[in-house]
Amino acid sequence: MILVNDQWLSRGEAKVDIEDRGYQFGDGVYEVIRVYNGKLFALDEHLQRLKRSLVAIRIKPPYPMEVLEKNLYQLVEHDQLTDGIVYLQVTRGQAPRGHGFPKAAQSVLTAYTKSIDRPLKEMTSGISAHLTADIRWLRCDIKSLNLLGNVLAKQEALEKGCQETIFHRDGMVTEGGSSNVFIVQNQQLVTHPSSHLILNGITRQQIIKLATVLGIPVVERAFSIDDLFAAEEVFVSSTVQEVSPVVTVDKVVIASGKPGPLTQQLQKQFETLIN
Ligand code: PDD
Repeated sequence: MILVNDQWLSRGEAKVDIEDRGYQFGDGVYEVIRVYNGKLFALDEHLQRLKRSLVAIRIKPPYPMEVLEKNLYQLVEHDQLTDGIVYLQVTRGQAPRGHGFPKAAQSVLTAYTKSIDRPLKEMTSGISAHLTADIRWLRCDIKSLNLLGNVLAKQEALEKGCQETIFHRDGMVTEGGSSNVFIVQNQQLVTHPSSHLILNGITRQQIIKLATVLGIPVVERAFSIDDLFAAEEVFVSSTVQEVSPVVTVDKVVIASGKPGPLTQQLQKQFETLIN
């Protein structure tokens, strides 16, 4: 089923208007939420971030978050989803095209489920990444539908035979194409601070908490490209990629070229959250 505001429709029935502002301007925000064993993972955190993104771009959701929460439970239950994701977006709605906010548009919320496997192979063998200049706008903290910078960078990485992009701005690593980036330096976990230059990933937040539990020191500060190449370990985190070790960057082997011990410890600890 597809949830369109408060309607439950089939895939064929759910339609987007040609003047929907999400379609024409990317004027909207989204979330990707994991479902493990039929349960929505870190739902509160995702809904809180959604609320924050909506406030940041001044979109009023069609109904309160509590109603959305109920609808999402219903969606997962109806689709009998065991392992996968819920994709959810809210646009400013449909109105005659014009850049300014329309006076009377009703926001449009759509949500659906998709069954996907956990990235077990990537988590065990590691992935390769490609460095690219971060030419995106300066509000990367908003989970906006405008993903062109991310899309082009990801495609560039794929064409280089890599699975993920690592963005850098002014010599410093910001985040991944669709993930956050962590390095291990002097046995400390280092990641870009939560700022307008990155999306504060829900997985990132979970990892910081897990590291604290494990007694691994965490430093939230920007690190350089040189730090990345000299790191003891590198990994990316996201709802879809979970904790995926990065073993090469632009064909340069990172440390041993294998998933590092702290990364593996964090992966193991992450399992305790989802089982
Ligand atoms: N992307 N940074 C960017 C640019 C992202 O697109 C994502 C996630 C993250 C990690 O956030 P989280 O841990 O909350 O998933 C960081 C989603 C999965 C996507 O666009 O598919």
